[in-house]
Amino acid sequence: MIKVGFIGVGKLGKDAAEVISEFYDVTGYDIRPVETPIKMEATLSKCVKGKDIIFVAVPTPHHPNYDGRSATSHLPPRDFDYSIAIDVIKEIDKRVDNESLIVLISTVLPGTVRRDISPLIKNSRFIYNPYLIAQGTVKWDMKNPEMIMIGTQDGSKTGDAELLSNFYQPILAKKTRVEIGTWEEVESMKIFYNTFITAKLCLVNMIQDTAMSLGHMNVDKVTEALKNSTDRIMGPKYMSAGLGDGGGCHPRDNIALREFSRRYNLGYDLFDSIMKSREQQALNIAKFMRKIGIRTEETICILGSGFKAGVNQLEGSPSLLVGHYLEQLGYKVEYDLIQLRNGEVVENENILNNELLTVFLLGWPEHFQSWPFPLGSTIVDVWRSFKPVKGLKVYHYGNTRNNQSCLISDN
Ligand SMILES: NC(=O)c1ccc[n+]([C@@H]2O[C@H](COP(=O)([O-])OP(=O)(O)OC[C@H]3O[C@@H](n4cnc5c(N)ncnc54)[C@H](O)[C@@H]3O)[C@@H](O)[C@H]2O)c1
Repeated sequence: MIKVGFIGVGKLGKDAAEVISEFYDVTGYDIRPVETPIKMEATLSKCVKGKDIIFVAVPTPHHPNYDGRSATSHLPPRDFDYSIAIDVIKEIDKRVDNESLIVLISTVLPGTVRRDISPLIKNSRFIYNPYLIAQGTVKWDMKNPEMIMIGTQDGSKTGDAELLSNFYQPILAKKTRVEIGTWEEVESMKIFYNTFITAKLCLVNMIQDTAMSLGHMNVDKVTEALKNSTDRIMGPKYMSAGLGDGGGCHPRDNIALREFSRRYNLGYDLFDSIMKSREQQALNIAKFMRKIGIRTEETICILGSGFKAGVNQLEGSPSLLVGHYLEQLGYKVEYDLIQLRNGEVVENENILNNELLTVFLLGWPEHFQSWPFPLGSTIVDVWRSFKPVKGLKVYHYGNTRNNQSCLISDN
């Protein structure tokens, strides 16, 4: 039977270890006394010796002023404190060999494992495996998680990732999705899962504030209507990263809600940050052109400048917003659509078969897969769906798994 050590038998660790002990041989260790039916060892050494898997669920605490029970937005942002996790992992690694797999469960910010934890692993093996578990339902959540997240150095799905995935199978009450990724991908799955919930609730609670400011309105009537909108809002749509939200309605609705917040004195401006992030994200894409070495003497051609695929409408177009920032950075930009004085939007014939244009940013990649790009052209696709083509240098912005430059095919 697989032998398990469990370090940190607290609010998460105690219930988790007890559930695991229904299926495997579990021994725990904690610096404080813990009342539990599982066998507890007096020292960390004894707990980890000869174990196949050693789970670490020690605290990664925030400063006491930052737990959310009092206001924090006026305080400087702060990371968690990783000193306990670092000490514990160092101590475990000293006492075990390559036969042991250390599995960190504690919550960390994206980037922490590669920077602070992986350099400590000298003798053993390591996986990052955060849990989606809520207080009050830890045992039930252990058997019924929404997904199991397993982070490995390079995202490989075999070896230890497979071992850990198989380890959980007898514990799970139903067939469960296993998401295996790099450490950074899994750190992000965990923390954005939680913060998605906060962002969603802030929006929902703004509707409540709207009811309180305006009168004649029950917030539940509105949230129920939105809750049942399972096509676009409560579903997988709009979960692909790429260009910002666009069109004739969305950006300006957000902008108008800023005025609403001011007029009714809500005391916060959620859409200030949202609109700033839409703009800054477009600027970040524009700056990427500089990062990959595109010189300002070169003209960048935006293909797919309408606000969405196949729609020749330029209002609220997120690719035009990127173009705006490219121009600010000193580039000359050509667009595949141009608006005539009478308002009509027509195709820009100057760009077709123009050998001088060799740098392209794609607003709608699939649409341009067969476009006659001049040989040697550079293609930047922020949706990552343009397939590599011989003779073209293709970048998938947003996929840094293999290199920071996002280059997926080089001529
Ligand atoms: N509580 C949850 O529901 C939950 C859910 C998901 C993730 N997490 C994450 O799991 C981690 C642990 O959270 P928690 O809520 O269980 O914290 P906790 O403080 O309740 O438990 C941590 C345990 O670790 C012990 N500990 C501290 N230093 C130790 C050491 N050097 N050696 C051995 N044991 C030591 C503590 O005595 C305590 O019993 C945190 O990173 C947290 O963010 C918690």
